[in-house]
Amino acid sequence: MNRPRWFHGLLSAICLGITAAPTASAAPPRVESIEERGMTKMPFGKLPDGTPVEIFTLTNGGVTAKITNYGGIVTELHVPDKAGKTADVVLGFDTLEGYLAGHPYFGAITGRYANRIAGGKFTLEGKTYSLAVNNGPNSLHGGLKGFDKQVWKAEELKTPDGPALKLSRTSPDGEEGYPGNLAVTVTYTLTNAGALKIDYTATTDKPTVLNLTNHSYFNLAGAAAGKILDHEIMISADKVTAVDDNLIPTGVLADVAGTPLDFGKSTAIGARIAQIPGEPGGYDHNYVIRDYKPGSKTPVLTARVKDPKSGRVMKVLTTEPGVQLYTANFLDGTLKGKGGVVYDKNRAFCLETQHWPDSPNHASFPSTKLNPGDTYTQTTIYEFSAE
Ligand code: BGC
Repeated sequence: MNRPRWFHGLLSAICLGITAAPTASAAPPRVESIEERGMTKMPFGKLPDGTPVEIFTLTNGGVTAKITNYGGIVTELHVPDKAGKTADVVLGFDTLEGYLAGHPYFGAITGRYANRIAGGKFTLEGKTYSLAVNNGPNSLHGGLKGFDKQVWKAEELKTPDGPALKLSRTSPDGEEGYPGNLAVTVTYTLTNAGALKIDYTATTDKPTVLNLTNHSYFNLAGAAAGKILDHEIMISADKVTAVDDNLIPTGVLADVAGTPLDFGKSTAIGARIAQIPGEPGGYDHNYVIRDYKPGSKTPVLTARVKDPKSGRVMKVLTTEPGVQLYTANFLDGTLKGKGGVVYDKNRAFCLETQHWPDSPNHASFPSTKLNPGDTYTQTTIYEFSAE
């Protein structure tokens, strides 16, 4: 098994009894020592109606992830830098109350349809469906109460790949306007190589549409360290889905060559960000993944991001045809996250692997239709190393 160099350093630290996970005063109970590999479960609080919510700590390959069954949210992800020093590389809150108070999908599973559906409407087999609208005239990330706000059934698994958390729920027919009873599973595996792998499946009893993703906000230096404008990013794509002023695709696939959207060669996120028009400005674009193979279950390289200071590198691999690069343009400093850090504009970036926005209204886009008898699958891997 190939383990990154920092893994061995971390292992020595563990043997010496050094705890790598940082602590915060308002935080829920933390694991006291990091095991090399495994999972622990803790209460994370209760919803206003009394429903209990749990949080799971997965450790493997030198990486520690915390995931709650509320919204399937990845609340923490501790990754070593080139010196073996860990930092939490995702945005989020210390407590369940932070999430319940409202937030822009930090770490969450978004569905039934990640990204936008124009006018909150689509037609399937001659019937028009009206969805919950929550983004101007459009439906975004599943509507008013999407998968990010649901409590999922959680199952702890031991797999040869590493500890895994299987989340499942049945979204009832008509939920947020979508047809069909949809049985969904999302399995997070923290692999032996320190990657966070996410496998999704879904089946339906009526024709429907779906598009699932994870909406983690990453900052490879750790959120407290500042903005992500100096992170260098490569995206394996030559085109984006061109959009109108409401971020709805026009149907045109626009070439990125020679524009500030071109990340074919690794470039600092901030190098040309000021040239992106619009208010609040910044990247919020769906890239058309060059090596996407319809029907393939093998994830392909989609993006690579490096924080030059810490040396942390994240590679993103997926089976999906698109990835939304979002540079947290709408964070305006009003939300305070873990450890009281103010979440301001460009504090993080998202790489949301998904089908293209508004596909149900574009016959030329890869289809997001799911028929009874078929199984939807999606796999995305966030792979960490340091150099
Ligand atoms: C969208 C943004 C949106 C953000 C938070 C991203 O996936 O592309 O426009 O502001 O999610 O909702």
